[in-house]
Amino acid sequence: MASKNESTASLLRLVNREIWIVTSMAGDARGGLVATWVSAASIDDDRPVMLAGIAPNHFTRDLIDRSGAFALHLLTSEQVEVVWNFAFDSGRHRDKLASVASTQSDLGNPLLKECLAWFDCRVFARCDAGDRVFYWADVEASTQVSEGKPLCEQDVFLAADGDQLSQLKADRDADVVLQRPWHDNWRNHLSEQPPQIHRTQ
Ligand SMILES: Cc1cc2nc3c(=O)[nH]c(=O)nc-3n(C[C@H](O)[C@H](O)[C@H](O)COP(=O)(O)O)c2cc1C
Repeated sequence: MASKNESTASLLRLVNREIWIVTSMAGDARGGLVATWVSAASIDDDRPVMLAGIAPNHFTRDLIDRSGAFALHLLTSEQVEVVWNFAFDSGRHRDKLASVASTQSDLGNPLLKECLAWFDCRVFARCDAGDRVFYWADVEASTQVSEGKPLCEQDVFLAADGDQLSQLKADRDADVVLQRPWHDNWRNHLSEQPPQIHRTQ
């Protein structure tokens, strides 16, 4: 019988989440990452809000905290190469925007010139939840850049070669080892330290 975790992981593969590229810039520093923990967080079309969950150890989290803003991008199903650029390494050691054409948004975020659509977001609330920091952000502008279907997580795994799959798994395993104590600490202190949602502006 499959273990509880294997079974949950395989059931979650029944859904195919869209891939987001989250970018941000603070001073001279810029960067971005691949994320699936991104969701629309409002049903009010006149006041769109997005919610993003970013791991505290990622450089992009640092940039978002410093700038109070980020851009979200959906990719087309042909743009899997962009995923390798933003999923591997950290922006602490490499300028991930150097190899892609980008411009700057009104909020100062790097905007990928080639994508399916982008959303320029200003953070208004932040919640530290141990292994993730959650950001609620107003969408100040958004644009569809090209036609096509959004790139989804399973398209990425299907396109990956053996080395890329090994690297994705190694990065994920390393993140789990690093982040598990942060999650446990957050969880064990929830009663004396309930989740704090901070207004950021
Ligand atoms: C399919 C996929 C989904 C991911 N989703 C997230 C996510 O939702 N949040 C997050 O913080 N990292 C996520 N990551 C990991 C980051 O993209 C990755 O660790 C990145 O290199 C961090 O870059 P940075 O240190 O330059 O910010 C995901 C990676 C992959 C491959």
